[in-house]
Amino acid sequence: MKVSVFPDYATLSASVADELLALLKTKPGAVICLASGNSPKLSCELFVKNIKDSQTNISQFFFVGLDEWVGLGPETYGSCHYDFKTRLFDPLRIPATQYHVFNGQAEDLAKECEVMDNIIREKGGIDLMIVGIGMNGHIGFNEPGVDFGLLSHVIELDAVTKRVGQKYFTEQLSLSKGITLGLGHLIASKKVILMADGTAKAGVIKRAVEDEVNTSFPASIMQLHNNGYIFIDEGAGSQLTNIER
Ligand code: F6R
Repeated sequence: MKVSVFPDYATLSASVADELLALLKTKPGAVICLASGNSPKLSCELFVKNIKDSQTNISQFFFVGLDEWVGLGPETYGSCHYDFKTRLFDPLRIPATQYHVFNGQAEDLAKECEVMDNIIREKGGIDLMIVGIGMNGHIGFNEPGVDFGLLSHVIELDAVTKRVGQKYFTEQLSLSKGITLGLGHLIASKKVILMADGTAKAGVIKRAVEDEVNTSFPASIMQLHNNGYIFIDEGAGSQLTNIER
């Protein structure tokens, strides 16, 4: 794992967008997995702009959504599917054949997990995952205590996730479960970038990078990834002790 500290959110986001574009240039059929939420918001905007400016042909890549709130669908502002649709699918006119996201409203959620795992396997695995980190150290909805070997699964949300998650929605929602790729997918992914910005994330970044790897703090799994990167701004890196700037 390598830690890169950027001066601010804008340069951090530009760098992530560059990574995405560079991957599509070298491997047009790449499989990319992205988190929703606030952290990758600007990276998505810049990625869309870069694709349009450079007129890159994106007809071969495949997109996988990291997670979804159980019970929510693409019509709910703040759902993960809503984010992916408004940030990427619509602006880049990505056809449904080129992406797969969890249906949080599926009757059979176990089947939903199985389908996701099969698709990822059939596509040859994930080339690049861009993830965020929650205030409890979660990645996706891999909540504290999660088994690091799991693939897609449905999970009872941690109290912190339920509370902090309200920030995405225009009205108070009852959030109880999430459906998510597992950390088994993350470890198997060819490259992973965990991105975080702002001093509010400084404590969790310190724990992810400097504490011992432990399932009670899922993001610590990044230390085990041979091609894992922590991309942070100065604020999120402000509590790190062993970092060269
Ligand atoms: C969202 C997701 C979550 C977020 C994390 C950080 O799809 O997977 O794990 O990445 O909670 O959220 P933000 O970026 O909003 O601070």
